[in-house]
Amino acid sequence: MKIVAGRASQVLASRVAAALNCELLPCEFRSFPDGELYTRVDATTLDGEPVAIIQSVTSDTDFVCLLQLIEACEGLDASKISVVIPYLGYARQDKRFKSGEPISVRALARCIFADEVFVINPHSAEALKYFENARSIEALDAAPLLGEHFRKTKNVELIVAPDDGAAALAATVAGRAGLEHDVLEKTRLSAEDVEIKPKTLDVAGRNVALVDDIISTGGTIVKATTLLKELGASEVYVACVHAVLVPGAALRMLNAGVKEVIATDTLETIFSRISVAELIARRLTDTATSK
Ligand code: R5P
Repeated sequence: MKIVAGRASQVLASRVAAALNCELLPCEFRSFPDGELYTRVDATTLDGEPVAIIQSVTSDTDFVCLLQLIEACEGLDASKISVVIPYLGYARQDKRFKSGEPISVRALARCIFADEVFVINPHSAEALKYFENARSIEALDAAPLLGEHFRKTKNVELIVAPDDGAAALAATVAGRAGLEHDVLEKTRLSAEDVEIKPKTLDVAGRNVALVDDIISTGGTIVKATTLLKELGASEVYVACVHAVLVPGAALRMLNAGVKEVIATDTLETIFSRISVAELIARRLTDTATSK
């Protein structure tokens, strides 16, 4: 198998290639003067070899790049195309919240033609059913890796989800870490503003880890941290799978008193200290040997 690293997942793809001891195909990415994206996989043929394309989708350009890479690998005669989308953007618009809105993730997902698609912790399971042009679609779960981190560091005593949407993630993280878990109640007032109220938490004097699938503006984490501090929590650590982190998000969280932010490398940030490379490599190996 050969690995193709999309422009948004260069480091992660090279880690997967190293884990699999596979060749990483060089690619060229640049923009035309009018802004259109030029993408090229630097090979003359794949000679009927399977290929895995690894590309997160954080922007419209990333998505176009992913489509270009799939088409390029088809043109190079790959025997099988596996697509790994470490972070699938647009997945928060997984339903029509108002009439006239698109199901954005559906619009994207059905453009992806591949033999198999893997998505790491998609925002909702709902998103996966829209990959109607993939022969197989599967979610990979990075939550145990976050749990393993806290099991080793032993620096927190309680895992907390900032809202119901993150409750299952918190349960898995806590299970692997061997810790208790709880959930806060969140009401979203607008795209930028959320209100958080406590459930039945006893955080006083304890080190707590807030866990979420995505951190974007940091608004959810800031509110939750402020609340936990008011309730007497000692240190508040934060862990997420996908550190989207819009400009200012990290500073906002640290200013709110967050002790440390830990993320996986589905997106390449300064907080990406937990790698999902082995998780991806294992799954690619399993499917390669089962066919
Ligand atoms: C929302 O449902 C997600 O699970 C995250 O809680 C949310 O995307 C975090 O966004 P932000 O960092 O902007 O509050």
